Amino acid sequence: MQRAALTTAVTWKRKDLLGLEELSREEILHILDTANGFKEISTRSIKKAPALRGKVVLNLFFEPSTRTKASFSLAAQRLSADLVDVVKEASSAVKGETLVDTGRNLEAMGVDIVIIRHQQAGAPALLGRSLDACVVNAGDGTHEHPTQGLLDIFTMREKFGDLAGRKIALVGDITHSRVARSNIHGLKKLGAEVGLVGPKTLIPGAFKDLGCSIHYNLDEVIDHYDVFNILRIQMERQNKGLFPSVREYHHLYGIDGNRLSRMKTDVMIMHPGPINRGIEISQQVADGKNSVILQQVSNGLSVRMAVLVLVQSAKEAHGA
Ligand code: CP
Repeated sequence: MQRAALTTAVTWKRKDLLGLEELSREEILHILDTANGFKEISTRSIKKAPALRGKVVLNLFFEPSTRTKASFSLAAQRLSADLVDVVKEASSAVKGETLVDTGRNLEAMGVDIVIIRHQQAGAPALLGRSLDACVVNAGDGTHEHPTQGLLDIFTMREKFGDLAGRKIALVGDITHSRVARSNIHGLKKLGAEVGLVGPKTLIPGAFKDLGCSIHYNLDEVIDHYDVFNILRIQMERQNKGLFPSVREYHHLYGIDGNRLSRMKTDVMIMHPGPINRGIEISQQVADGKNSVILQQVSNGLSVRMAVLVLVQSAKEAHGA
């Protein structure tokens, strides 16, 4: 139940999409409305539109990815763009080339849009300032993952329509989650109530300043929320002593059939992936009827098509 276009008066003027923090409510709605239009293309037998014909899209990934990289690739191809992939291990970054030099060299070959995932927060912003090409953040350190936030919000709006007053919980490692930051910025701008649930060591108190409530006891708020967006436990941080053990984490915060049975009956269960089955979410819940995890992935394609078209259009129209 996506709402009808609310934002026809908005003209998108950004050549880069770096995060949801800097976007207005109207800009966020404009992307979502544009994505809604692109969703129809995915239902056609020939899933192609000519919007980016003759343009070159580059995937520049310095960290692993399955969903985001494949989704941007398919989005670019559905828009008839040419696509180039560069991954860190096979790039001259391993020989010491700077990010800006890499970007400028690729731009010199005619790249129009750079999709960048980088371990360093702020890397996409640096590249955006350094290039005439559009830059889209596909996840930078613990900062933001704006298209994940947008596709999550798009998926919530398909079910709930207007999110004003909707109760959305983000569960898990908030501290290290770029997905959480993008969700929080986007959801708060659309008027949702956002709760953060997890161990004290993984939720900075400063998140209260963004208007979120914080809960250390999941079971106390289990029937309060309309949506539980469950974050991946970042196993690579296991040795940092942020929680006692994976087993204890599962006991206190894992979403399993028992906890699902105490949630609202139509609760929406989300997860950005990749999933640690049996840790933050059980098999039964991940594959159950309340789960929209694969719907999120499908919607990501429409959202990314919208983003690619909007940034390229802005660059051409405004020289932004
Ligand atoms: N959700 C997400 O960013 O997944 P990938 O790391 O597979 O891209």
